[in-house]
Amino acid sequence: MRPTRLPIRLRKTVDDSYDIVIGTSIARAAKDIRKRWPAARKFIITDTNVEPLYARSLAWSFRQEGEQVPVLAFPAGEAQKTRATRDRIEDEMLARGVTRDALLIAVGGGVVGDVAGFVAATLLRGIAYVQIPTTLLAQVDSSVGGKVAVDHPLGKNLLGAFHQPRMVYIDLATLRTLPDREFRAGMAEVVKCAAIFDRTLFAYLEKNARRILRKEPSCLRVIVQRSCELKAALVEKDEREAGPRRLLNFGHTIGHALEARMRYTMLHGEAVAIGMAVEAELSAGMGLASARDAARLVALLGLYALPTTLPARVTLEELLPYTARDKKATGGTVHYTLLRRIGAARHGIPVTHSTIMKHCTP
Ligand SMILES: NC(=O)c1ccc[n+]([C@@H]2O[C@H](COP(=O)([O-])OP(=O)(O)OC[C@H]3O[C@@H](n4cnc5c(N)ncnc54)[C@H](O)[C@@H]3O)[C@@H](O)[C@H]2O)c1
Ligand SMILES: [Zn+2]
Repeated sequence: MRPTRLPIRLRKTVDDSYDIVIGTSIARAAKDIRKRWPAARKFIITDTNVEPLYARSLAWSFRQEGEQVPVLAFPAGEAQKTRATRDRIEDEMLARGVTRDALLIAVGGGVVGDVAGFVAATLLRGIAYVQIPTTLLAQVDSSVGGKVAVDHPLGKNLLGAFHQPRMVYIDLATLRTLPDREFRAGMAEVVKCAAIFDRTLFAYLEKNARRILRKEPSCLRVIVQRSCELKAALVEKDEREAGPRRLLNFGHTIGHALEARMRYTMLHGEAVAIGMAVEAELSAGMGLASARDAARLVALLGLYALPTTLPARVTLEELLPYTARDKKATGGTVHYTLLRRIGAARHGIPVTHSTIMKHCTP
């Protein structure tokens, strides 16, 4: 008998559009969320540092309007971006009787956003969530674009999904309580954005480092808005990272390897700063960028007191096995995003381990 073939036609058009509101407040975000999701049961996910600072006041804003919203907080830090943390949040939400029309509200840095977004991606086959990012890194990068994940001892973000938030609410005032070291780490992603596609922003960062480090509100708005615009444009073009969105991985192949090698004890932004310095050296060594542009990038990272060399006890050679495990590796060679000049980069450049060892400081 011939096999029977039943086609399932599932060509889809989905509209996952959403807005990023820059310069709102936590209280106004609560109002807007109530207006958009009047009937949904809400859950606030946060970490133990952000809970007393912002998550409780968000819950209080809801309570003022007669709505009780539970706050689920897990211990802060990259080391908590694990399956175990995700399990605990899911257990708790299921125990509280979450249903598919619930709304999850992520309040915190990139770790909270990534874990909470991943919970939202798979809980009951997917529920809605919004992002209220409270670190510079989360405001300029991780809260936008729908990449959500947890880490594995073998590598960063190895378990994850694409699940877009329904709204992103950015309260720039939350950056006032952010420790300086975390703020500077967030600047690494802003520098990255400027390096790969905006030389005007790059020059602005060179010129205004002192004002930015003092967190002057007008400067914060410029850097957050510009970074979000650039990221949004790439996400619109290439949500699933099949092409141009990979430009955002500049500095991240080495950066992620370093994070895994250090067992996630380093700040993501600091690892990315070192990763950009190494990858800029590689770009120059391979003749893609000028040595002058590579040096200009390293100098800018220095203005924000970001590290640009590997920690003393780590060698480049040790990192290479981790780069091969990175999700961006396909079939042996590792594909890098490399610098062409300040304001331009190219993705998908195959690089062998020996090429890296030849061109970069070991
Ligand atoms: N999904 C993406 O597209 C994407 C992009 C870039 C980075 N990331 C991920 O983001 C993570 C890093 O994010 P992060 O740098 O925000 O780290 P984080 O979430 O660990 O936050 C840094 C620290 O600051 C604290 N904090 C947060 N907001 C604060 C505030 N306003 N005041 C005082 N303290 C505050 C946190 O409790 C934490 O201790 C990494 O896991 C990285 O992989 C994801
Ligand atoms: Zn990053």
